[in-house]
Order: sequence, then structure tokens, then C-alpha cells
Amino acid sequence: MSKLKVAVLISGRGSNLKALLDACDTPNFPAEIVHVISNKKTAKGLRYAEEYGVPYEVISHKDFATRADFDMELHEHIKKSGAEFICLAGFMRVLSNKFVDLWKDKVVNIHPSLLPSFKGVDTHKQALECGVKYHGCTVHFVVPDIDSGPIIVQEVVPVLDDDTEETLGARCLEKEHIAYRRALRTIAEKKYKIEGNKVITWG
Ligand code: GRF
Repeated sequence: MSKLKVAVLISGRGSNLKALLDACDTPNFPAEIVHVISNKKTAKGLRYAEEYGVPYEVISHKDFATRADFDMELHEHIKKSGAEFICLAGFMRVLSNKFVDLWKDKVVNIHPSLLPSFKGVDTHKQALECGVKYHGCTVHFVVPDIDSGPIIVQEVVPVLDDDTEETLGARCLEKEHIAYRRALRTIAEKKYKIEGNKVITWG
């Protein structure tokens, strides 16, 4: 069976990109990363693309007058790379409705909370302030609303009494890498269907 060709979009550290690259390097993994794009040239994650020999480029949103222009450039480059699917991995740009429509059900994101709780930024701080006993991460399909969309995988971590944003964030990040790998496998093996806001998986 041919592998699902994936583009990964990043803006920073790139630990989720690395987790996906490692996953794709394991025998019989059903996806391959064919392109990496960062909107920031300082993104540390670009070094992983280089290390793993995956074509990468920087497309700065600052070079475009409008969000729509930037998104169309992204679209063209992703198409040209041959990618059929997109993983957002710490990509700090909101995608326009037009882009989301063009890639309907073909873009997923990882968010560091158990959605629908704690959307937006500083999710570990939000969780600590809220006093929840469990926290985690979510891989979901991207829809026009931010941090929404059908959920594919969630992983849970306990919140400990002496947790700080850093300790909780680190525990969560380990689970992110597991969750993203699992979600990409399910997607690439086509062992899911989307029914409204729900993803049903099997296998
Ligand atoms: C992760 O916590 C991810 O959930 C969020 O941004 C962070 C990116 O981290 N969307 P990294 O760049 O993958 O290390």
C-alpha cells in the first residue's frame, strides 16, 4: 500500500515534528513526511527536517499583505510538494476559511489540552488555575473555528499538587508525541470516519 504523503507546518521547537519523523522512520509506518514549512526562519524544528533529509522551506507570513495571500502561497507550495495531508505541529497561524475549505478533512492539529477545555494559549496555566485533576492533549481535524473540530485522539495526564506549568507541560508533551503518532497512523491507514463532530476509529 502506498504511504500517505504528509506536509508538516511548524513555527518553533518542532518536538512534534520530530516525533512524526521518528514514527515515519519505523518499519511499515503508513505515512511519509514529504515537506516541512515554517512561517518563521528561526524555528528550531527546521533542523529536524534537515537532519532527516526532508525538503523544507520558510514562508514568512510577514511577506504577504493579507492572511489570504499567505495561505494561498502555502497552498501552492504544499500542492507542489505532492503532500496529500497536512499536520499542524505548533504552527502559530490561524488558517483562513478558504484554506480550510481547500483542505477539508485533510488538516489536523495538536493542541495541549483536553479540548474543548482550555482553548488558545497558556493551556497548562489555564489547567492549573482551574484546578482540574486531569489534563492532556488532543489531535483534531481543523475546521474554521479555532481549537475545534472532530477529535481523533486524546491522551490524559494527571495533574499533581506540586505541578508547575513546566512540569505539567513536560508531562503533557510526552503524551503529545504518542497521540500524534497514533492519530497519523489511524489517518494513513484510513481506519476512521467522520460523522458530524465525531470521529469513529477502528483497528
Ligand atoms: C505543542 O504543545 C502543541 O500542542 C502546540 O504547540 C506546541 C508545539 O511544540 N500546538 P513543538 O514545536 O511540537 O515542540
